[in-house]
Amino acid sequence: MKKRKNILLTGGAGFIGSHVVRLFVTKYPEVHIYNLDELTYAGNLENLKDIEDAENYTFLRADITNAAEIDYLFAQYRFDSVIHLAAESHVDRSITDPMAFVKTNVLGTVNLLNAAKETWKDDLKGKLFYHVSTDEVYGTLGETGLFTETTSYDPNSPYSASKAASDHFVRAYGETYNLPYVISNCSNNYGPNQFPEKLIPLFINNIIDKKPLPVYGDGNYTRDWLYVIDHAKAIDLVFHEGENSETYNIGGFNEWKNIDLVKTLCKQMDEKLNRGEAESEKLITFVKDRPGHDLRYAIDASKIHSELGWKPSVTFEEGLSLTIDWYLQNNEWLEHVTSGAYQDYYEKQYK
Ligand code: NAD
Ligand code: DAU
Repeated sequence: MKKRKNILLTGGAGFIGSHVVRLFVTKYPEVHIYNLDELTYAGNLENLKDIEDAENYTFLRADITNAAEIDYLFAQYRFDSVIHLAAESHVDRSITDPMAFVKTNVLGTVNLLNAAKETWKDDLKGKLFYHVSTDEVYGTLGETGLFTETTSYDPNSPYSASKAASDHFVRAYGETYNLPYVISNCSNNYGPNQFPEKLIPLFINNIIDKKPLPVYGDGNYTRDWLYVIDHAKAIDLVFHEGENSETYNIGGFNEWKNIDLVKTLCKQMDEKLNRGEAESEKLITFVKDRPGHDLRYAIDASKIHSELGWKPSVTFEEGLSLTIDWYLQNNEWLEHVTSGAYQDYYEKQYK
């Protein structure tokens, strides 16, 4: 395992980032984790309350689109590796405001690459730039087939185009400047702490409140779902054991049509909430489709499985049950997120 001392993790107040921060802070006490996050609407420090006082953890509020700020922080802390998760991550928002995605996902990534290149130029040994990316860069599949690491990029949404561009920049810095890098492209994550704009937490929240469940189009779109903690474990492995300049696909071996997933979610929630049979299914409402909606994503994760020994540890049934329980037990978190009160946490905690 390659040991590094000062890890810069970007986007650590977000959904996936917060699980990766917790894993690294608790598993590697000898390593210092710097969590850099601008705390956009998607960043929530309440996600990290349990580890915020750890000695090997520092929160840095900064915007990756601000090159001067990023250069300053690299000069100050001399990070020896980067795990880059900060991004605008919601496809629907990218359709209404593509430029925000260009700024954060493309410009922000290039700012980080420039700062790493400059800081590491005299000694690249032991350095690593890890870009956490998405399977959406590959575009859409038809009814059959899987995305492999050699599938051509063919992004369809402004979000996936911006993530594809950032992957290309990372690779280009590897080729041009010998910057050591790895990239992983993961399928849809679900689990605790996901902002309730994405399918599963939005629908859990709406079922709790008995509000309509807006299924786009006919609901026959397929996604490959992975429990977020299994993604965090894969990131740990890729970071420590991944080969320089390689890409690893990460997926759940777990394809679901949206409509089937929503019906399963309704059933589990009716049981947990002691509601009548099929009560929540009645909330399903078919609404206007997402423009450019990708039909199907499915990952071939055999490379990370055979080379690094990773596979998901949680079945979908278990993961979904754990996720529902978490949202039901953390109604204060959900209430703070839906009311916007979570945004006061930084002022209270850090100012
Ligand atoms: P998220 O939206 O929950 O979190 C993103 C975080 O980035 C937030 O904390 C936000 O404050 C921060 N951020 C945004 N703009 C910033 C900026 N300009 N400067 C500094 N910080 C900024 O996202 P997520 O779902 O946790 O995804 C994390 C990463 O993983 C993203 O790069 C995403 O593309 C990728 N990914 C996500 C999924 C998924 O299913 N959610 C799957 C595969 C890959
Ligand atoms: O595949 C990885 C990607 O998964 C990540 O890179 C993205 O950051 C993440 O947001 C996710 O993208 P999706 O667009 O697949 O996720 P979302 O939860 O927005 O939608 C999942 C499916 O559900 C998709 O087919 C659209 C549909 N949907 C979504 C919402 C929010 C609905 O039918 N109704 C909804 O209200």
